[in-house]
Amino acid sequence: MRTVRFGVIGCGMMGREFASAAARWCHLPEMDIRPEIVAACSRTSSSTDWFAANVPSVTQVTQDYLDVLANPEVEAVYVAVPHNLHAEIYCAAIAAGKHLLGEKPFGIDLPASQTIGACLAQHPEVFARCASEFPFFPGVQRIGHMLEAEAFGRIIEVNAGFLHASDLDPQKPINWKRMRQFNGEYGSMGDLGMHVCHVPFRAGWRPRDVRAILSDLVTERPDGKGGMAACDTWENATLLCTAYGDDGNTFPLTIKTERIAPGNKNTWYLEILGMRASARWSSRQANTLEVLEYRGGEQVWQVIDMGHEMAYPSITGRILETGFSDVILQMWAAFLYEMEHGTPISRFAGCATPDEAALSHRLFTAALESHRTNSVVPIEDAG
Ligand SMILES: NC(=O)c1ccc[n+]([C@@H]2O[C@H](COP(=O)([O-])OP(=O)(O)OC[C@H]3O[C@@H](n4cnc5c(N)ncnc54)[C@H](O)[C@@H]3O)[C@@H](O)[C@H]2O)c1
Repeated sequence: MRTVRFGVIGCGMMGREFASAAARWCHLPEMDIRPEIVAACSRTSSSTDWFAANVPSVTQVTQDYLDVLANPEVEAVYVAVPHNLHAEIYCAAIAAGKHLLGEKPFGIDLPASQTIGACLAQHPEVFARCASEFPFFPGVQRIGHMLEAEAFGRIIEVNAGFLHASDLDPQKPINWKRMRQFNGEYGSMGDLGMHVCHVPFRAGWRPRDVRAILSDLVTERPDGKGGMAACDTWENATLLCTAYGDDGNTFPLTIKTERIAPGNKNTWYLEILGMRASARWSSRQANTLEVLEYRGGEQVWQVIDMGHEMAYPSITGRILETGFSDVILQMWAAFLYEMEHGTPISRFAGCATPDEAALSHRLFTAALESHRTNSVVPIEDAG
């Protein structure tokens, strides 16, 4: 079993998810490669304290990410920091020759994404991927197998989205994700959009143009110090794209990223309607996949219980349910598997690529322009 020694830069919520996934690697009996976290870096000692207390393999704790990049023990890094720091830290890691799993949106905006892309082009020896875990739910993997088998026939339309609702509460205090200077102009598209684009882009579908409607529903929030602070990010975005696939046909692709979708906690959904088959899955009912296979006659939606049919085999019994931390573990398996073997175990069981992240930036940048100009905007370089 090969061990890859990791540094974690940004020890907040997502950094801790990785620590937990690495700690239960024995869940994946067929992996021939495993992560070991040896370095933890965050801006505040309160978050690195958690790592020092809970991750015995950590030997380096620092508030300066350059210390981690200078550590010869560290072969790869997971960087989970606010978006305004992505380009600086990702590029420094790439230049230091560290393999990288970087959080989405992989740069705060299009220029930052292009800077990261240029760095990667100069360092082809570095393996880099963008985090996105929802495709690893068994229901989505099954849709991926249907796509590989070309089961859908000609695509009629695709609807994909990611819906949160906690921002419906105007008294929810501000944090960096609600501030343009840290989160970026994309607002909810930057936070949630790569998750939504991952499967459509991996399917080979490209948005040719976009008509976007963005909503700024809450303009200020409590600052946690007794006052109010500007909340200057887009809460909700609806993008209607003309998409096309390998067969040259076009179809409507709707992408929604919403922080104020009443009633939803963390709803990632995908619906594909095709002439021969259709499928839909939502994290709201994560165990349930709906499939309609049309061979003439009655059109019947089948409801399938998915259980624990994982891309990277797990010790959990196949009839048992799957949750968020399980798909985080699968995403990490995908990152390490592809780093070691050069390809994911199957087409839809790979982390998002830097090219896929770059395409999402072109889409979100065009969406900003579409909303601003009230027009349909072509997507640059989309073919
Ligand atoms: N994949 C997912 O499902 C998912 C979910 C939430 C967030 N994210 C992404 O993860 C990233 C971080 O989000 P989060 O929710 O973990 O945020 P968070 O606020 O919980 O954590 C961010 C961490 O970065 C640290 N940090 C800030 N500046 C730093 C610096 N200069 N050097 C080192 N550390 C620094 C902070 O101390 C904090 O611990 C973002 O890119 C976000 O979009 C991904």
